[in-house]
Amino acid sequence: MNITVIGTGYVGLVSGVCFAELGNRVICVDKDPEKIDVLNSGGIPIYEPGLKELAVANRKSGKLSFTTDLPGAVRRSDIIILAVGTPPLANGEANLAYIDQAALEIAEAMNGYKIVAVKSTVPVGTNERIAALIRSRTSLRFDSISLPEFLREGSAIQDTMHPDRIIIGADCSSAAETMALLHKPLTEQIVITDIRSAEMIKYASNAFLATKISFINEIANICEKVGADVTQVAEGMGYDKRIGPSFLKAGIGYGGSCFPKDTHALIQIAGHVDYEFKLLRSVVEVNQDQRFNVIRKLESIFDGEMRGKTVAVWGLAFKPNTDDVRDSPALEIIRHLVDNGVKVKAYDPIAMANFQTLFGKEGVAWCDNAMDTAQGADALCLLTEWDEFSGMDLGQLQTVMKRPILIDGRNVFKEENLLGTDFVYYSVGRPSLN
Ligand code: UGA
Repeated sequence: MNITVIGTGYVGLVSGVCFAELGNRVICVDKDPEKIDVLNSGGIPIYEPGLKELAVANRKSGKLSFTTDLPGAVRRSDIIILAVGTPPLANGEANLAYIDQAALEIAEAMNGYKIVAVKSTVPVGTNERIAALIRSRTSLRFDSISLPEFLREGSAIQDTMHPDRIIIGADCSSAAETMALLHKPLTEQIVITDIRSAEMIKYASNAFLATKISFINEIANICEKVGADVTQVAEGMGYDKRIGPSFLKAGIGYGGSCFPKDTHALIQIAGHVDYEFKLLRSVVEVNQDQRFNVIRKLESIFDGEMRGKTVAVWGLAFKPNTDDVRDSPALEIIRHLVDNGVKVKAYDPIAMANFQTLFGKEGVAWCDNAMDTAQGADALCLLTEWDEFSGMDLGQLQTVMKRPILIDGRNVFKEENLLGTDFVYYSVGRPSLN
């Protein structure tokens, strides 16, 4: 099939590359000429394991190309996939300006029947609005499809090539069948729904996963008080097929460009129809507070005397295997420490430059590796569970620290890792060790 993907962010780029890998001819379009130059010279503007190799190979074989020429790409394609950003507005609602603009540009470039599929996460009713916009500019025939995306950063290729399900929201059965055919090599689990339900499935799925995380974080907080171990509790719960084992890892709360944005947006969507989504409001509140568990532990260790202490931070990305720091809990945790006179030393294997762009370079000592970061520290906080950290020799680590205090915000270490060391060890929802 001939496909144009508009927007070369995470979703657009990964989808475009994977559709090319399946044998389709794909044109990826972006407004940003610098991004397109990077892609055309064999680079990738984001860090995602395996993406660069796949993009380079498919570009070489001629199945994948990158351009800023949206009209030219639309004219050469039968399927147009919209994957532009829908960043949050100040009130939490999704900003649809980029989607609207792209829809108008598609309409003006159309030269025959097209399927216009929306992969961007958009509020219920947006596909209908986009269809109306296109109809206002062209009398040519097209069909709208809602095609929500469920890939995760850090495992985006695996998630796209082996999805749990594909959701196709359509009001035209032949367009739905074409889209099903496109996705057939990926999975048998293709669910065709009406357009509004498909839009809702995306928000409901992310909100449910966020709920699982906040739920287990609250269980962890109770575990700390009653002397239970949340990892054992989560394992025991997870064997129940109705609950399932995934997304029950307690930690410092969810971050990233999706869960925070989509939970806020769903609260807004409900609000517009006079429904207060009380449960989801609490999920957001719990998540916000969970970040401060690390701070509360530091405060109790230092008897409230944080000023002048040196705290090392391992991990800045919102999760491992990505350089994405958007809404990373580390941003708020480090800001709070710096504002309270703590000397912060920080390190992340991949995300340091992006973090500095959002946080600023001032106020933190940026380090080149994990061991240097811990040098002379009164305490060490692990905020992202990169493999590099779990493999550290804690015996050697304690020799470089001023005080061997470790706050493991992601439950990376086990009791046996600490054997033979003097570490005082705090984690999330597990008994502290010393
Ligand atoms: C999430 C969803 O998992 C994807 O299905 C969805 O497509 C994507 O949002 C999106 O809407 O685009 P992503 O944000 O890339 O994907 O990352 P996740 O792996 O879901 O992790 C999100 C956050 O939750 C991270 O901060 C992670 O540390 C945290 N998390 C995850 C936990 O604290 N505990 C868990 O058990 C799982």
